[in-house]
Amino acid sequence: MIIPVKWSDEGVLMLDQRLLPTEEKWLVLKTYNDVADGIRDMVVRGAPAIGVSAAYGMALGARQFVGMDVADLEDELDFVGDALATTRPTAVNLFWAIDRMKRTFQTAKSEGKSVSEIKGILLEDAKAIHDEDIEAQRLIADFGGALIDDNATVLTHCNAGALATGGVWGTALGVIRGAVNQGKTIAVIADETRPYLQGARLTAWELDQDNIPVTLITDNMSGHMMKKGKVQAVVVGSDRIAANGDVANKIGTYMVAVLAKRHGIPFYVAAPLSTVDMNCPTGDDIPIEERDIREVTHVKDIQLAPEGISVSNYAFDVTPNDLVTAIITEKGVARAPYTESLRKQFED
Ligand code: MRU
Repeated sequence: MIIPVKWSDEGVLMLDQRLLPTEEKWLVLKTYNDVADGIRDMVVRGAPAIGVSAAYGMALGARQFVGMDVADLEDELDFVGDALATTRPTAVNLFWAIDRMKRTFQTAKSEGKSVSEIKGILLEDAKAIHDEDIEAQRLIADFGGALIDDNATVLTHCNAGALATGGVWGTALGVIRGAVNQGKTIAVIADETRPYLQGARLTAWELDQDNIPVTLITDNMSGHMMKKGKVQAVVVGSDRIAANGDVANKIGTYMVAVLAKRHGIPFYVAAPLSTVDMNCPTGDDIPIEERDIREVTHVKDIQLAPEGISVSNYAFDVTPNDLVTAIITEKGVARAPYTESLRKQFED
């Protein structure tokens, strides 16, 4: 069972995903700045895992506070929240978790709690965010697993597994685990996911640990595999889903969705409601992270491209909602028109 982020009395423990699959090393992050660096530097990655980490970062920030005045703690939490919020722009779970922790603070303050009581309340809420995330993935696994046929081969892009969430299930890999738990025979095709190779390094590793058959392909092989009838469904996760069902996910997801449509293959998105941003009307409103061009020009220290060449490194793209067969959340399966079906899920 993979749980990539944990709380301990020493601080936040993170499995260093930069080193996988060749090394399994845990880091102890003792300050909220360490947690912010951990998110920025991809020690932890994947939208729900980033959200859980940010919640623990807020709890850590409160624990580091030495004063006795609740108003000063409030100022400090604003500061901590800002530090965490500047790490990565696309995954909305980050901002969702920071906002929820701030709301929890406000409730505790309005109830007249002391600084030390509030520190305890914030830690409890961070743990609750973590537990709720795992429970959401379990429900996604149940709902999503039912959509996958027995003997299907499922293609996935990036890593939307236990590593990318609070743990255990994952979103896209949760759907696959759910189908397997339902007694189905499932095989997986994992795109390697250039340039950061989350598919090759993380998805392949995770599925191998669970003995779920996985075949790794380069990103440019998926069209060929679909044309040959080797893919029965595509399942991916998301970093942010707009209110109209447009889906931001790892760069290359849009390309896979277009190919799936061309070949009549269902394209499913699995994500908890903490990934759905009802304040973002469409995908055009989602900020897309651009990362260091060295991720494209190099693999580790090996230079692949000419020195000084112009490079783009967009980390995410947006798949328009008309390419999405269904969005699977902990509340069930949403279908088009998503503006209504997603809103209804928040109301249920
Ligand atoms: O840059 P990353 O590795 O954080 O990107 C991760 C993804 O794009 C995942 O598919 C997404 O966060 C969903 S994780 C359940």
